[in-house]
Amino acid sequence: MAAGDVVDQRAQRRCRSGRFNTFAAHLCSGHSARYQADRGALDIAFHARHLAGKTDMRPRFQAQLRIQQAYLEQLFETFPHALTLRDLNGRLIRANAEFSRLFRYSVQEAIGVDIDRLIGAPGSDPSTGIDRPLSSESRMWRQMRRRRRDGSLVDVSHTGSPLTVDGKAVAFYEVYHDLTQQLRAEATISEQQKLLEAFFTQSLDGFFFMMLDRPIRWNDQADKEKLLDYIFTHQRITKVNGAMIAEYGMKQSEILGLTPADFYSHDQAHGRAAWRALFDAGRLHAVTHERRGDGSPMLIEGDYVCLYDADGRITGHFGIQRNISERARQEEALRESEEKFAKAFRSSPLPMSIATLEEGRFIEVNEAFLRDVGLPREEVIGRRAHDLGLWREPVAREELVHRLQRDGMVRRYEFEARTRLRERQINQIWAEKINLGGQDCLLDIVWDVTDSKANEEAMRRSRQELRDLAARLQTVREEERTRIARELHDELGQALTGLKMDLSWVRGRLPRTQSDLSDRLLNSITRLDGTVDSVRRIATELRPGVLDLLGLVAAIEWQSQEFFRRTGIETDLDLQSDDSPVDDVRATTIFRILQEALTNVARHAGATMVRIGVLQTRDELRLVVADNGRGITPVELAGRTSLGLIGIRERAIACGGVLEIAGQPGEGTRVEVRIPSRVLETQEAVA
Ligand SMILES: Nc1ncnc2c1ncn2[C@@H]1O[C@H](COP(=O)(O)OP(=O)(O)O)[C@@H](O)[C@H]1O
Ligand SMILES: [Mg+2]
Repeated sequence: MAAGDVVDQRAQRRCRSGRFNTFAAHLCSGHSARYQADRGALDIAFHARHLAGKTDMRPRFQAQLRIQQAYLEQLFETFPHALTLRDLNGRLIRANAEFSRLFRYSVQEAIGVDIDRLIGAPGSDPSTGIDRPLSSESRMWRQMRRRRRDGSLVDVSHTGSPLTVDGKAVAFYEVYHDLTQQLRAEATISEQQKLLEAFFTQSLDGFFFMMLDRPIRWNDQADKEKLLDYIFTHQRITKVNGAMIAEYGMKQSEILGLTPADFYSHDQAHGRAAWRALFDAGRLHAVTHERRGDGSPMLIEGDYVCLYDADGRITGHFGIQRNISERARQEEALRESEEKFAKAFRSSPLPMSIATLEEGRFIEVNEAFLRDVGLPREEVIGRRAHDLGLWREPVAREELVHRLQRDGMVRRYEFEARTRLRERQINQIWAEKINLGGQDCLLDIVWDVTDSKANEEAMRRSRQELRDLAARLQTVREEERTRIARELHDELGQALTGLKMDLSWVRGRLPRTQSDLSDRLLNSITRLDGTVDSVRRIATELRPGVLDLLGLVAAIEWQSQEFFRRTGIETDLDLQSDDSPVDDVRATTIFRILQEALTNVARHAGATMVRIGVLQTRDELRLVVADNGRGITPVELAGRTSLGLIGIRERAIACGGVLEIAGQPGEGTRVEVRIPSRVLETQEAVA
């Protein structure tokens, strides 16, 4: 019993302080009570006890036996996996330190307990089922899940073997190996494999493996030409992804197995050169001309990496490639378009420049620009428009930038510039906001409008002068007509009336016998009456007295009646007047326009009705003449020989008025004149 106590104490101490003590402890434990109680036993322990019982055992053998026993004990305890020995009923006889560590039971707790009750996990097989191997090897092992003392579960591999004495099983020894790390590593690897597989299959670039039937040794001693012969017929596509299949427009089954000779049937020399470069360097980045399944060419950009075996021989290579035909085409198109536009820019006869938007620093200018500013290129590029003093008023450029920011483009913006030839040049600029390398820039074309502006101004002035002259002539003509009308009416009319009275007097004094003479005189008097009428009519046509005597409204009423009387075209007169005063010039203008419009209705419209509207207010004078005739056409409206219409327009403009003439086919023509009362206002202001 004393010896057993010592063993236990030592055994516990051993657990804390190391392996060598174990040896000592078990050396002393051969006869311990615990071991006496064992019903099964380790072979060696069994034999040891048997040998120890022999009284005639020589001390030398005993010593050897003890040493052997110690080795075994040490082996058992230091074994890196959990090791147990149990009896045929499943009860634990011994367990090593690793068992304790793995399942967290102390050896004392475990001894004598049914192992399945101790570490069996719910729902898993009992460990006695060693007859069901997972491996086909002679050694039986399997993976199982066991429970620790604290209830946590642990995956272990389990190996069990019966321990036999004289061919009879007396116990089982079992080994448990903690698989946690291994399983975790396996899980990680399989996860990574899945990721790699997903990367391979789903990549938008074509991925492939091309493996040699046999690895080759590729070095400077090798006959590379011969090797290439071999490679071209014995290196085959073994794995491809969807992108690669799509690139070549072939089925997977058609691509798998293809050799370099297949891929480069159109250009073997090129293919061999590419392969040589790849195998020489171990990797290659290349742009190659390849053929799709249907023979159409494509441009492929690829990265290829050689694969080697442990001996450094090439086993094949891995490739990533993409079809860049479209990209190459676009780049070419871009280059061409750049070339076109660069040429247009350079050769433009108008100054063109590209400058940064805010600062106005010149990035590019053309020859015409340099010619205009009179500076060499190097003095312009990189400098600001402001530094070069090109804009006479820098604010104008700020305004241009502001508009560009707002609208993205500017058309016909005018500014004053300083150029080589002119201190003050009026320029018009067409500008576009463009983006170059992430920076807002301004692309513009400029042209000099100084001369055309001056011409325009001269033209405008001369037209105004002509108008003024025409208006003056109209006035003079009107005055002349008024004077002639008055003289005709007053002087000639009165003279004729006097003549008529004289003739009547003479006739009254003629004797009855002179009936011939009397008839003759009566005839003359009647003709004289007609002449007086003619004189009156001519005078009125020259200038209707009613206009001067009774005003515009009365004159219009008179004119409309006259019109009806002469033409039989019905007139509908709508006169609205607030009796605001109308000056003579405007009254005459309106009246003459009415006369011309009515004449046109009578001559061209084929109308049965004409509506005349007059609106006379403090602010404006408005006249509308609308007939129900055939309608004036746009061609007639634009006709240069339409002197009547031109006259109407010129009269209206001369008074600061506006004229609108419009015709609807079959629905008539409408003439509208509006003359503002500006003259009136100024008169009032003066008053
Ligand atoms: N009220 C109208 N209805 C139809 N056509 C018209 C009318 N007024 C003018 N026109 C057309 O416009 C043309 C130009 O008119 P106008 O300048 O007055 O010249 P004119 O009367 O001497 O022909 C006319 O010849 C006629 O064809
Ligand atoms: Mg006319």
